[in-house]
Amino acid sequence: MSQSEPAAEASAKRSAAQPRAPLALTVNDKPYYHEGDPQMPLLWFLRDTLRLTGTKFGCGVGACGACTVLLDGKAVRSCTMPMAAVAEHRITTIEGLETDALHPVQQAWIEEDVAQCGYCQAGQILAAVDLLKRKPKPSEDDISAIGNLCRCGTYPRIRKAILRAAESIQGQGK
Ligand code: FES
Ligand code: FES
Repeated sequence: MSQSEPAAEASAKRSAAQPRAPLALTVNDKPYYHEGDPQMPLLWFLRDTLRLTGTKFGCGVGACGACTVLLDGKAVRSCTMPMAAVAEHRITTIEGLETDALHPVQQAWIEEDVAQCGYCQAGQILAAVDLLKRKPKPSEDDISAIGNLCRCGTYPRIRKAILRAAESIQGQGK
């Protein structure tokens, strides 16, 4: 049964007036709280609130992967991830991937000179980090299945860098 219009309006006003419990989350090993709309995308929180602008906005509908971050170590698309879904979770952005040295994936990216315009690259790197955690010796199909788009067409260099990083990580026994 649907609410009558005045009743629905009154109910919306009541819930808007109620204070929201803050959502707690960890970003790059630091604790944060979000007191606004729990349906706001994580991407807005990262870019607009925390000013972590390494995470990019591409399509806004979960299709391109430019906004990829790690949620408890797993690659997710932050443009379609509501803040309510990340409460009490640990987010890693490109800024927090490694703080003391380059991550082996970042090192391989440099050695293979992957980036062109660079716009998609933070998302590509974080997606590769997730892949290599799940599949330390990825196949060509595993790499293709990542599905992050690059309008500059750097895919051949991305492949080479992922394979190079896989070897490096195995060599380090990580
Ligand atoms: S901006 Fe999130 S998938 Fe494209
Ligand atoms: S390097 Fe330009 S979009 Fe990927």
